[in-house]
Amino acid sequence: MMVSAKEMLQKAVAGHYAVGQFNINNLEWTKAILQAAQESNSPVILGVSEGAGKYMTGFKTVENMVEAMVEEMGITVPVATHLDHGSYEGCMKCIDAGFTSIMFDGSKYPIEENVAKTKELIAICEEKGMSLEAEVGSIGGEEDGVIGQGECADPQECKMIADLGVDMLAAGIGNIHGKYPENWAGLSFETLDAIQKLTGDMPLVLHGGTGIPDDMIKKAIDLGVAKINVNTECQLVFAEATRKYIEAGKDLEGKGFDPRKLLKPGFEAIVEKVKEKMELFGSVGKAE
Ligand code: 13P
Repeated sequence: MMVSAKEMLQKAVAGHYAVGQFNINNLEWTKAILQAAQESNSPVILGVSEGAGKYMTGFKTVENMVEAMVEEMGITVPVATHLDHGSYEGCMKCIDAGFTSIMFDGSKYPIEENVAKTKELIAICEEKGMSLEAEVGSIGGEEDGVIGQGECADPQECKMIADLGVDMLAAGIGNIHGKYPENWAGLSFETLDAIQKLTGDMPLVLHGGTGIPDDMIKKAIDLGVAKINVNTECQLVFAEATRKYIEAGKDLEGKGFDPRKLLKPGFEAIVEKVKEKMELFGSVGKAE
């Protein structure tokens, strides 16, 4: 069932669990994540970066593929298609393509411009029944060639953006995209706590889910995080499983070169990883 992320995240805040956003890259990724969500009876958010959207030939292809898969696979759990770190132009394209949710990453704009553009997008999303994620303070690491500086968001600025009427708020709390460095200081729960106190029931979003220790994930959920983004971890398990298949020479046995066989171990690794995360986030059985 295609829905916006609004209701599923409000339920997550009330129920003290988090919904996973898993980024998709192709048909196998999408099918694996949908299957994991259905088997876990969990709501799910399919994240699409601008780069992944381009790779899949455009957001319309993505939206049509997801809608068709939800129908053909008989997916009954709530599914949202969500633009990840969208530019203003990217948001407009996803609105046009029929996405159910978007993230406007206005962190590169001066705050006044970020506010003005966010307000405009809130009005459009309300009209279309879509949900909107805003970001305060840039989140470090590299994503689509953009390297942000890991930083902690200003809680007052978070409150200001939350009060505009967005549906979810991503705030930097020392998290970064991709693998964490050896000397990473960990999440700043002090910052998260201060943001949560000022933003109340606003669902908070934790980006850079890959590599954050389980106990920190649980503590973040206790402090109001209701959406956790995972991307790199699925890529790593997919690559590892595919490498093992090739290194074992399986592609050289019989019809082992058939892409449906070649991509199967990677596909299955994603299903397992997504299920493991849904368990950790507490969203299993929360589809109702
Ligand atoms: P990771 O790639 O670190 O899991 O981060 C994903 C993310 O935050 C997408 O916005």
